[in-house]
Amino acid sequence: MCDYKQLMNMAKEASKKSYSPFSRFAVGASVLAKSGKIYTGCNIENSSFGMTICAERCAIFKAVSEGEREITAVAIYSPNADNCNPCGACRQVMYEFQEENNDVIIVTESMGELIIRKLSEYLPYGFKI
Ligand code: THU
Repeated sequence: MCDYKQLMNMAKEASKKSYSPFSRFAVGASVLAKSGKIYTGCNIENSSFGMTICAERCAIFKAVSEGEREITAVAIYSPNADNCNPCGACRQVMYEFQEENNDVIIVTESMGELIIRKLSEYLPYGFKI
């Protein structure tokens, strides 16, 4: 059983590593993989703005590069915004690594309370080959 509070705390910790000198919008994410391991990431910006990577994709790609193929839950946190939701690109990447017939759980925080939603609420009718 996963502790979403712990997952959120790890996303908060990861947001401290954010490299975001251009937007000054820090984001941290943590990913619970099917193996039970947790991977964290932060947004990493670049002078060539289009090269920026979001915290969620940073964490997911770390997981995949360590051999994970299925993700169970993702927590997202920004110290700069209440209820920081994943962007469209990150939703699509989560969809790619979703367990079959098992929605990825997305955990955000609003006013100190966890919000637990399913990926299908964020991305209905997702695309996958
Ligand atoms: N960002 C994320 O890390 N995740 C999201 O889902 C939304 C946006 C980052 C990208 C950029 O560094 C900053 O937030 C402002 O867009």
